[in-house]
Amino acid sequence: MRQSHAAFAAPDSASIPLHVVGSEGLTAWLDTQPERVRTWLEAVGFAAKTGQTVCVPDAAGGLALAVFGLGDAQARVRGRMALGAARGKLPRGIYHLASGFEDDELPEQLLGWLLAGYRFDRFRHRTGGDADIPALKAPPRAEARRIEVLAAAEWLTRDLINTPASQMGPEELETSVLALADEFDAQVSVTYGDDLLHENLPLIHAVGRASDRIPRLLDLRWGHEGPRITLVGKGVCFDTGGLNIKPGASMGLMKKDMGGAATVIGLAMMIMALDWKVRLRVLIPAVENSISGSAMRPGDILTARNGLTVEVNNTDAEGRLVLADALALADEENPDALICMATLTGAARVALGPDLPPFYTDDEDLALALSDGAMVEADPLWRLPFHAPYEPLIEPGIADLDNAPSGGMAGSITAALFLRRFVQKTRRFAHFDIYGWQPSAMPGRPKGGQGQGARAVLWALPEVLGPDIENRE
Ligand code: BES
Ligand code: ZN
Ligand code: ZN
Repeated sequence: MRQSHAAFAAPDSASIPLHVVGSEGLTAWLDTQPERVRTWLEAVGFAAKTGQTVCVPDAAGGLALAVFGLGDAQARVRGRMALGAARGKLPRGIYHLASGFEDDELPEQLLGWLLAGYRFDRFRHRTGGDADIPALKAPPRAEARRIEVLAAAEWLTRDLINTPASQMGPEELETSVLALADEFDAQVSVTYGDDLLHENLPLIHAVGRASDRIPRLLDLRWGHEGPRITLVGKGVCFDTGGLNIKPGASMGLMKKDMGGAATVIGLAMMIMALDWKVRLRVLIPAVENSISGSAMRPGDILTARNGLTVEVNNTDAEGRLVLADALALADEENPDALICMATLTGAARVALGPDLPPFYTDDEDLALALSDGAMVEADPLWRLPFHAPYEPLIEPGIADLDNAPSGGMAGSITAALFLRRFVQKTRRFAHFDIYGWQPSAMPGRPKGGQGQGARAVLWALPEVLGPDIENRE
């Protein structure tokens, strides 16, 4: 669907110059311009305010150039991917960046431009005219192809999250993974329904069995050589809370509870499209946390794949249950890196808000690389600790583990500690407690489904696994 908006215009297209100007640099920039341009900009009151966009006509009444304001330094640190906002304000046409960004700022801004072309309008009759969206010529100095790959992957993630649960159940999530596998010659095996019990994935079964949309574990593999990278994503296609049913206001957005799956699917797409020299595996427990006579009950004790028993003290803490089995399975292979992404706790939002997902890892090199990657890729993350003194909170007494410690203190940390119990061998393990949703529109980020952390991980992995994984002949 309109993937062309996730790409740049051909380098030889005729194009309109687009100047990007910060308010501090405005006077100096105006000095470089002909009088005609200066007069016009003064007449219309161009002050380079954040998002201010002005088109300057030529003598014949055509479009000579466009100017886009970045505001002052303070405004710039408050936002990211500012150029994304220009795409919604400029008239249609093909533009090239004539001035404004340093080389090292370009990838973020160009990605912002592409991401601003995203719309989820599959369900709208009036879509507002496709041809009207402006395009940008990729400057030769930027790595256009990588940016296009990142944008296309993020579009896929957003589409998966935005699609309502009625059209994105475990089966449709499987279909999406199969389609991606087809595109890149990856192999997928799927374990369904009662076979989850036969294959020793009892927690995935317990969470998903109440729904008539059969629970399943999706297992994608791609690549034959290089380090093993395993991605695990929470694929709860809808989270009612189960018998501990969520109140209406908390349930409203729960179509996004497969945001972890959607994000690792996007990340897998990036890795495959960039043709990394790795052995990639993606594990997605795809279930619906539903309510029926066969639903798991509060107080039930389940035995996980790795033998640990879990008391279900809240059926709404289902994400850590399905991830427990998937992580235990992943860990058996002792991958070189194990990345887990999940819309796991409301507590993560309380702690850091929707724009700054916490991540957890015991590997200092990976932590450092992820924090760097978050900055470089404009993909914010913040490290929180696996704080061992809180371990007793997840030990209830009559089973090995409690899925929902009473009191809810440090809810994101206790959820992370719970997951860590299922990763015994793997040294480089990182878990991301993401939100998967943009609550209100920002440049490059329309309101709705959102990948978080994928680009930071993409940047970090070659740092810890070696740069060779990126350079395939
Ligand atoms: N999917 C939710 C977490 C969630 C809620 C993420 C809202 C993002 C936004 C998860 O399954 C859940 O309900 N967690 C509970 C755990 C609690 C019962 C221990 C939570 O966070 O309240
Ligand atoms: Zn839940
Ligand atoms: Zn959930």
